[in-house]
Amino acid sequence: MRTEVLRVDPENLHDRSAEEAIARAGAVLKNGGLVAFPTETVYGLGGDALNPRAAERIYAAKGRPSDNPLIVHIAEMRDLKRVAVAPCGIAYALADRFWPGPLTMILHKTADVPGETTGGLDTVAVRFPSHPVAQALIRAGGGFVAAPSANRSGRPSPTCARHCVEDLDGRVDMIVDGGEVGIGLESSIIDLTVDPPAILRPGYITAPMLAQVLEGCGAGLPDHEGRVQSAMERPAGVRGSEAEPAHPKAPGMKYRHYAPRGKMTLVEGEDAAVVSYITRSAVLLLETGARVGVLCCTETSGAYDRRARIYALGRRNDPEAVARSLFGALRACDEDGIGVIYAEAFREGAFSEAIMNRLEKACGHQVVRL
Ligand code: TXA
Ligand code: MG
Repeated sequence: MRTEVLRVDPENLHDRSAEEAIARAGAVLKNGGLVAFPTETVYGLGGDALNPRAAERIYAAKGRPSDNPLIVHIAEMRDLKRVAVAPCGIAYALADRFWPGPLTMILHKTADVPGETTGGLDTVAVRFPSHPVAQALIRAGGGFVAAPSANRSGRPSPTCARHCVEDLDGRVDMIVDGGEVGIGLESSIIDLTVDPPAILRPGYITAPMLAQVLEGCGAGLPDHEGRVQSAMERPAGVRGSEAEPAHPKAPGMKYRHYAPRGKMTLVEGEDAAVVSYITRSAVLLLETGARVGVLCCTETSGAYDRRARIYALGRRNDPEAVARSLFGALRACDEDGIGVIYAEAFREGAFSEAIMNRLEKACGHQVVRL
């Protein structure tokens, strides 16, 4: 299959060329084809959510197990009812506060949503993204676009069109290039089919932000200290995941998410102790000829041995910058042939929970605490 890459400037969506590109991409979706497209979180790999064949194509293109459910993206509030049965008051309160935006809600699905899209579940994940290109494409494609992140299964999620080309060239019909994404980590996911609601994946919409809306509805999250399930833990009854098999028999069998090819270790502690630990470890390895990479904050980036490849993610007090560059840096480690990666931990602010969640998955939970 030949993959066409179309550039659409999100600032000039009403240019003739942008309108034509969106119309063509929408037609691909309506015909059951696949289009990778930008959202405010990461790029998605879209197919018609109401067409079971499109869902099968998505799984095949990603190399993802077909029992791992997809998120249904909408671009009109009224479309929520078409895919979710009688959404509760909490769903509307959360939508009112955070949609369009980087929040996904798990609700009970309607008969219109095929089991292929939801991995056989009777629940559905729904999101109304805020990215103008995503919204235009969803509308042009019929209103309901199933889209996982547009990476090959196990690779870091794509934050620009080039990442989509790397993973999906020749496997999808079209890639809409709308530039770099704004957030860089996938949406927060909250499950509203359980009581109390549970955060399944931390993201830009943090636990305290969600708790505030829930409290306004007389509900709450399991833990009022602001702590949430930090891993992508599936609710009981949900089988399989891109992350790991339902019951990994041995730790080594655990599927690594966002995994770079190199062996990665996360190092957590006071800055000086972390720099010294990573430097000592790196020097030993560099002397054996290994290619070593360090993912760190801007502040410490000058402190490491220059023979190591340094990936400065952003200032420590700017988690948004760190989040935006994280997946690109993990991919760069692969491009640069890095065999051993050390990453500093990031704990500043509520959004860092999402960053740490991705870092812990990327290193397969290989963490050194000093
Ligand atoms: O930001 C995002 O959410 C991006 C963009 C493209 O919107 N999408 C994304 O999709 O990250 P994906 O498929 O990579 O991650 C969705 C996660 C998966 O871990 C899946 O298991 C979970 O959501 N999920 C989907 N439907 C679910 C359901 N009904 N119950 C529980 N988990 C569900
Ligand atoms: Mg994904």
